[in-house]
Amino acid sequence: MNIDKIISELTLEEKAALLSGSDFWHTERIARLDIPPIMMSDGPHGLRKMDDTAENPNDAIKAVCFPTAAALACSFDRELLETLGKALGEECVAEDVSIILGPGCNIKRSPLCGRNFEYFSEDPYLASQMAAAHIKGVQSKGVGTSLKHFAMNNQETRRMSYSAEVDERTFRELYLAAFEAPVKESKPWTVMCSYNRINGVHSSQNKYLLTDILRDDWGFEGLVMSDWGAVDDRPVGIDAGLDLEMPSCNGKNDVIIIDAVNSGKLSMERVDACVRRVLELVDKAEDSKSEAVWDKQKHHTLAGKIASECAVLLKNEGGLLPLDRKEKIAFIGEFADNPRFQGGGSSHINCFKVTSALEAAKQFCDVTYAKGYVTEEDRSDKALLDEAVKAAKAADKAVVFAGLPDSFESEGYDRKHMRMPQCQLELIREVMKANENTVIVLHNGSPVEMPFAADAKAILEMYLGGQAVGQAACELLFGEVSPSGKLAETFPEYLEQNPSFLGFPGQEDTVRYAEGLYVGYKYYDKKKLRPLFPFGHGLSYSTFEYSDLTLSDSEINDKKMLTVMVSVTNTGKVDAKETVQLYVAPVNPVVDRPLKELKGFEKIFLKAGETKKAVFKLDMRSFAYYETKISDWYAEDGMYKILIGASSEDIRLEDEVYYSNKTPLPVHFDLNSLCGEISAVPEARAIFEPVFKTIDVGFDENQTDQAVSQEMLDNMIKDMPLRTLVTFTNSPELTRGRISAMIDELNALMADKYEREADEAVR
Ligand code: BGC
Repeated sequence: MNIDKIISELTLEEKAALLSGSDFWHTERIARLDIPPIMMSDGPHGLRKMDDTAENPNDAIKAVCFPTAAALACSFDRELLETLGKALGEECVAEDVSIILGPGCNIKRSPLCGRNFEYFSEDPYLASQMAAAHIKGVQSKGVGTSLKHFAMNNQETRRMSYSAEVDERTFRELYLAAFEAPVKESKPWTVMCSYNRINGVHSSQNKYLLTDILRDDWGFEGLVMSDWGAVDDRPVGIDAGLDLEMPSCNGKNDVIIIDAVNSGKLSMERVDACVRRVLELVDKAEDSKSEAVWDKQKHHTLAGKIASECAVLLKNEGGLLPLDRKEKIAFIGEFADNPRFQGGGSSHINCFKVTSALEAAKQFCDVTYAKGYVTEEDRSDKALLDEAVKAAKAADKAVVFAGLPDSFESEGYDRKHMRMPQCQLELIREVMKANENTVIVLHNGSPVEMPFAADAKAILEMYLGGQAVGQAACELLFGEVSPSGKLAETFPEYLEQNPSFLGFPGQEDTVRYAEGLYVGYKYYDKKKLRPLFPFGHGLSYSTFEYSDLTLSDSEINDKKMLTVMVSVTNTGKVDAKETVQLYVAPVNPVVDRPLKELKGFEKIFLKAGETKKAVFKLDMRSFAYYETKISDWYAEDGMYKILIGASSEDIRLEDEVYYSNKTPLPVHFDLNSLCGEISAVPEARAIFEPVFKTIDVGFDENQTDQAVSQEMLDNMIKDMPLRTLVTFTNSPELTRGRISAMIDELNALMADKYEREADEAVR
């Protein structure tokens, strides 16, 4: 495609038309210039291609539902995500879909977000790694992805209008960081902007987000499309960098774009920039097209394999699991027969088949079954309960399949609480009373309160594990595969314990992210709170020993990477995988920082008795925070701990490294700088000391009738802004103007010093 030529030949009307979809799933065709449409479909954990040959074109073709992102992230396995991406890519090629709409990598700020099942983690590093691998896999097949929802779409309540009020550091370190690595490393063909506003500005017309950060800072060269219906003011969006509006605007915004260009409000240059990206995308998609067929059954088997790598064994007292095929086993609960394995909304897949645990169990042994509860409503059923108790009593071990029914969580709304249905809790209670060897298997898209957790001997979290989840559950339950998932999010004990509780889902249209950086384990860590299950937790049928932690250097800097190595030995009797987690903990930070942050993980397979090394590479970003004074990442000079753990609360080994950073931060004073801040800087102290000596705050430390101490006076003065010197000194020459002049003199001195030191640090 000769894009320059096409742009020069397109009329303004045609350009405007190209800037929105032709319908729900296609870009516009311009037949006159041989510009074909391309198709996009949801995503992210399966192909939801609308079947325009079906009676109802809103029916999707039959496809495979893989585990949802909430489950996938628990695999902590980049390779697995890439494999999943490749399978999705193959399906897209075969079905002539050019872009699959996903993955979603919004941070799980609250366990209540209705779409948490579609998102990876509360931790930006883990989320970014999972998304990057997913994209890499899909795109290796010549199919594009759409990394979504950019950004701050962390709830469903008023999702099209709320404003996420977030400070710059939290924005960069948490919410944007989840997108940054996938954009930089995996180069998604497209990014989908979110519905919400950020600090008052719609994402779909947020130049700071779509151009300054995404393109200028991160170097994104692909296309930005809107979430479906996210456009507010289309010309402002074009100016801000929103290339494609989806779905079709039925020509209505074309008229507005044409008017804006004709009246000079919008430049043709900006329109052309967006048109160019649409054409580049169409060209790339057309070029990558190939013939392929896909094997549904093969992908179904893959979905099961992936699910078995994601499930998290939360508890296993006395080695209750794995089950023995010779034992009498009772499966209890409707989810055993009819599992919940995906969520509601745009990611809903029309599965060509589903394997339940009840069906899969036949490969292992004869299990008895009792339905136990209904899912349509939360109502206890005495007959079902009695039948379940009877089955539990007659068995050696009972396995209750429970979790959240469809209506409890979905795109479009948030949960109001974190509880499971009462009828299921009652069933669990009664079955546990009837049989002390009861295993709980959970199907849910996000954390639930577990009043049974302390008494239950074994809990296996399957999440929403895709259409072959039953197969995976049985392979894990019967010990065919050892569980290896680790929680990608904290499970709070109860809803009120979670850090966003007071600010979720916000008031009217404003959502204040008041907990700042302290989302998930970073909050529980700092508050010394014990959640129900911590981030990174997950058991195995084997045991692992960690040893020989070595660091390549004892001192590093902005240019010198650190290599960390640790040996892990499978000390149990079965072959199994372990995820080794690396956290970085600043020892004495000057700025406010979480106690530790995940900066590396490696999942390794170990035969029983085998030892392997996990290797991690850490660079400046592993140690840095976002410094708003320089609008950049900055690693403070000082000591950092390298913590190696089997979970965020199970740190097995640690060592220290010195990060040497002599690059100064700029210092700037104004009338509201505090006397204490001045005293801390020698150059500033030298200028202001004589004035400080004349301060009189109206107290005398020798006065006996007042509780005045030198300490109190010192502290009062320390926290006084410079502007108050006018009032609290009796020198008539010390006017506001005079103080300003002294500050100017000081700032000039500091700027010189900054430049000198910055130069030296570079050398
Ligand atoms: C969702 C997107 C989805 C799109 C198309 C929107 O409502 O937020 O995630 O890709 O619809 O179905």
